Amino acid sequence: MKRKKSGIATSAVTDPLKGPLKGKTVSASRSVLGGHVMHLVDVVAAMAAGRHSNSYVVTASVDYIDFRNAVNLGEIVILMSQVNRVFNTSMEVGVKVYSENPLTGERKHTTTAYVTFVALDEFSKTPKVVPPLIVKRAEEKRRWREAGARRKYRLAMRSKKRKREE
Ligand SMILES: CC(C)(COP(=O)(O)OP(=O)(O)OC[C@H]1O[C@@H](n2cnc3c(N)ncnc32)[C@H](O)[C@@H]1OP(=O)(O)O)[C@@H](O)C(=O)NCCC(=O)NCCS
Repeated sequence: MKRKKSGIATSAVTDPLKGPLKGKTVSASRSVLGGHVMHLVDVVAAMAAGRHSNSYVVTASVDYIDFRNAVNLGEIVILMSQVNRVFNTSMEVGVKVYSENPLTGERKHTTTAYVTFVALDEFSKTPKVVPPLIVKRAEEKRRWREAGARRKYRLAMRSKKRKREE
């Protein structure tokens, strides 16, 4: 048994094939499930789409998700979503994810995502038109404009994919 300067004991372990195994710090094993954040993004985005359309909604696509900062263990995850733009039966929802240190209150922008939902008729389960979106503030207008550009790209990708599959 080795004893470090700190007084914490560490056992020397040897792998029969690899030889002596180097110790690893606790922080090296700390993990955050990005997939879980993606699930939360989908849920909070569906809430905004459902509230706007007062309908059942399905996720048509997630076209942008970017992890800027990691969420550290013990931090509070805050998700905010809003409808950016309504098209016909579909709408783009923007989601921002923040992590908050509960001790200091420091908040970091962790993730941004854009998710497209299609509203479905309750009975036929086919796409149904969505009420128009009223945009008032400059920020809302900017998001509305940018959502238009993203839709162009998204639909171009969709048609490219369809052609490849034909
Ligand atoms: C999304 C879905 C309803 C679209 O059905 P569809 O037969 O392709 O319908 P349409 O071609 O009439 O398109 C309906 C709307 O979806 C939009 N859409 C379809 N595929 C899309 C995509 N990949 N990205 C963005 N929008 C898309 C269309 O632009 C259209 O919107 P608009 O009316 O505002 O112009 C269908 O593909 C579906 O049910 N997909 C599975 C959804 C799912 O299981 N999600 C995961 C779990 S919730």
